[in-house]
Amino acid sequence: MKYLITSALPYVNGTKHLGNLVGSLLPADVYARYLRAKGEDVLYICATDEHGSPTEIAAKQEGITPEALCERQYKIQLEMNKNYNLKFDYFGRSSSENNTKLVQHIAEELEKNGFIEEKVIKQFYSIDDQMFLADRFIIGTCPHCGNTSARGDQCEICTQVLDPTDLINPRSAISGSSNLELRETKHLFLAQSKLAGELEAWINKQFEWPKLVKSIALKWLKEGLQDRCITRDLSWGVPVNKPGYENKVFYVWFDAPIAYISATKDWADEDPEHRDFMDWWGAKADVRYTQFMGKDNIPFHTISFPATIIGAGNEFKQPDYIKGVNWLNYYGGKFSTSAHRGVFMNQAIELFDADYWRYALMSMIPEKDDSNFTWEDFAKAVNGDLADSYGNLVQRVCVMLKKNFEGVLPEVGANGVIEEKLIADLTEAVGDYDKNMKELEFRKATQSLHNVFMLANAYIAEKEPWKKVKEGGDRVDAALTLKTAVNIILMCAVLSSPFIPATSEKVFEAFGVQENERAWPVDVRAALDVLGAGRVIDAPGILFAKIMPERIEELKAQFGDETNAIKQKGKELHI
Ligand code: 2FM
Ligand code: ZN
Repeated sequence: MKYLITSALPYVNGTKHLGNLVGSLLPADVYARYLRAKGEDVLYICATDEHGSPTEIAAKQEGITPEALCERQYKIQLEMNKNYNLKFDYFGRSSSENNTKLVQHIAEELEKNGFIEEKVIKQFYSIDDQMFLADRFIIGTCPHCGNTSARGDQCEICTQVLDPTDLINPRSAISGSSNLELRETKHLFLAQSKLAGELEAWINKQFEWPKLVKSIALKWLKEGLQDRCITRDLSWGVPVNKPGYENKVFYVWFDAPIAYISATKDWADEDPEHRDFMDWWGAKADVRYTQFMGKDNIPFHTISFPATIIGAGNEFKQPDYIKGVNWLNYYGGKFSTSAHRGVFMNQAIELFDADYWRYALMSMIPEKDDSNFTWEDFAKAVNGDLADSYGNLVQRVCVMLKKNFEGVLPEVGANGVIEEKLIADLTEAVGDYDKNMKELEFRKATQSLHNVFMLANAYIAEKEPWKKVKEGGDRVDAALTLKTAVNIILMCAVLSSPFIPATSEKVFEAFGVQENERAWPVDVRAALDVLGAGRVIDAPGILFAKIMPERIEELKAQFGDETNAIKQKGKELHI
């Protein structure tokens, strides 16, 4: 079996905050790295989500074309991927030629199968902005929860998907003008109501999906599926290949998920081995497909995209598992691009190396409920788990080995009782960790990884090799302890590589570890024997610097906390 993994496609414009990172890109990368480390055949695909009116309007405001804006933003996203060590097999673009062709093909199939309907609707035209306004550019009061700045496509507060005409007191998000007129315009609709039966049968079969995902899907079904408008009066998007639709494009939420498939085709087209993208996407392919996304994306991935695939004839694979992630808040409030509250991906990486963020964010990933980012928790994860339990262990062991055995692993005798107990304890802890990773329970996985670090520390503390290397001490036992400890460190470097890959590389390099010596530990006893007598072990240096209380205060002053929202000036669309 092969593994296909996708992360929700990041919008091409707008700065990404840490909530976006932990919501889809990072957990997918951790999962992909975990599976690769176990020797699985993995394909991790993502792309920029480029179409739609936000891009068209942002380009207009900058006086450049949407193509030029996307080109620039795509490069910024690639840089961000590199900075955070996100290792995609392919990172494409939803504006690619393959996506255009595939979106048009899927629309044709839907039409052939009788799932496209044409309707004349009334849509808001902004007289002051001189354009039809896309749903999200109409703001007003949500009829469900009373949020006064709900967007016309979805209320961010109660997650209800909306139609702009549902909003009370609608106004333009571009100019603020309420000088709006409902004008007639012709559009294509996906007949979701006709697909409800098949969709329901498919959703009901998903016993494995996490509660959050299943409950959102079922809530939608229960409310009854509305037909969904899949075209827009815009120029930036996938053209609608149908007479009478020359000035229209497909809705961004229609073309974006299709880009998961077309980006895989882009990858296959460039693949030197000429692999076929349908080996991954074919409905019957022997593939386990896992999607990652923030909770606002769940309706699109459990309802409209699957309905599209079913209606187009089930040519492509549906997801086996959907990892939906709740919101990561910043000190009890929202991270907000427009209000500049909280830390953004471009700022964060200037402050600390990627591994600090990767580990700390995954230790607070909002899996069950929304959770909070605080600098205090960030420092706790870095100082406690990474610096004290792991970095310090590596440093102490390497220094002792250097000082007493010239940095070369000594010959050792048989294991003692303590080593045997250690092997049993580590087997259990590693088993726990592996189970949590397999089940995509990442918060628990960081805890069980920490338990592995703690067992290593407890072992050294009990054996006290620093006493035994002294004159008259039991040097034979100290040798066994240090050799065992070095191998545990190697095992920790392998196990933690999905979370902190750059740190693992530092350890591998310092220990001269070859590719074939980095296997996932299926048998702890064997793993503690990988590096034997005669191996030269260098110290990798300080792996993690602790974050002191004064620094935490500085960061809070700079980025805000529960008392003060950060205020920075920036050019931002008011959405
Ligand atoms: O919410 C978002 O950031 C969207 N750009 C996600 C799109 S996911 C997909 F279906 F393309
Ligand atoms: Zn609402």
